[in-house]
Amino acid sequence: MIRLLYSSQAAQDITEQDITNILEQSRKNNIDADITGVLVYGGHLFMQVLEGPELAVLKKYVTICEDSRNSLSKIIYISYTDKRMFADWSMGAIQCKPVTLQKIFDLNSRATETIEPASFREAMRDFLRRLNSAK
Ligand SMILES: Cc1cc2nc3c(=O)[nH]c(=O)nc-3n(C[C@H](O)[C@H](O)[C@H](O)COP(=O)(O)O)c2cc1C
Repeated sequence: MIRLLYSSQAAQDITEQDITNILEQSRKNNIDADITGVLVYGGHLFMQVLEGPELAVLKKYVTICEDSRNSLSKIIYISYTDKRMFADWSMGAIQCKPVTLQKIFDLNSRATETIEPASFREAMRDFLRRLNSAK
């Protein structure tokens, strides 16, 4: 299995209804594809964790990259794993203040080159801690 975390920019004209549709589609499709994860959104940014069989996750990521509801996607972390962090979520959703997500986005952009796959778990915990304290 792999776990992939990416960020992307939402389309300028994205609506709440689009987010609802994305989550509905995700929850339906991800069960079939054995994918779990979480979608964090706020303002015009997305961050999403996808975890599951390598091929399924990579294929899904390509599909998402081609989706006109977002653009400029960038992989922040990718790592092999034998344990899911979001086993109970076919696709969880966290709505976050735009400004907070922008801060996390900037921090993670800077950290990309320095984080080793081995420290992924700690980085993800830190990411979730920051998200929780931002709510
Ligand atoms: C930010 C974002 C995240 C998405 N996440 C998922 C996902 O986790 N699973 C999924 O199946 N589709 C996801 N989608 C939707 C896909 O890009 C695509 O529209 C959908 O999988 C097509 O589903 P369908 O073949 O059932 O029509 C996401 C789209 C966006 C913009």
